[in-house]
Amino acid sequence: MSVRVCSLQDLTPGEGLRIDSVTPPIAVFLTEDGQVHAIDDTCTHQEASLAAGWLEDCRVECPLHESTFSLLTGDVDQPPAKRGVRVHQVEVRGDDVLVELSQDAPNLPPGVTV
Ligand code: FES
Repeated sequence: MSVRVCSLQDLTPGEGLRIDSVTPPIAVFLTEDGQVHAIDDTCTHQEASLAAGWLEDCRVECPLHESTFSLLTGDVDQPPAKRGVRVHQVEVRGDDVLVELSQDAPNLPPGVTV
């Protein structure tokens, strides 16, 4: 089931938006070429918000260390993070951004629980 998480106008190209209304929080990104993607917001290494990271093409770099995550697959490119994040399916309907949350278990960092 899809949930509305924000409106398209809430998003800024090249930036992420943390959504706290779902648990665990997710990060929604609008890429420079107009694509909307959603992944888990919490880095898998430590408690950092990926919405506050740096977006380049379809990868976001964690704001704390140098691991980057794919917005398309959730995979991580290099340590210190070792596990990827979940990817959530996004549908843009008019101005509404709808997300179908992954049913997989989240890869939360040590000490963080849902
Ligand atoms: S907290 Fe994200 S790579 Fe360390």
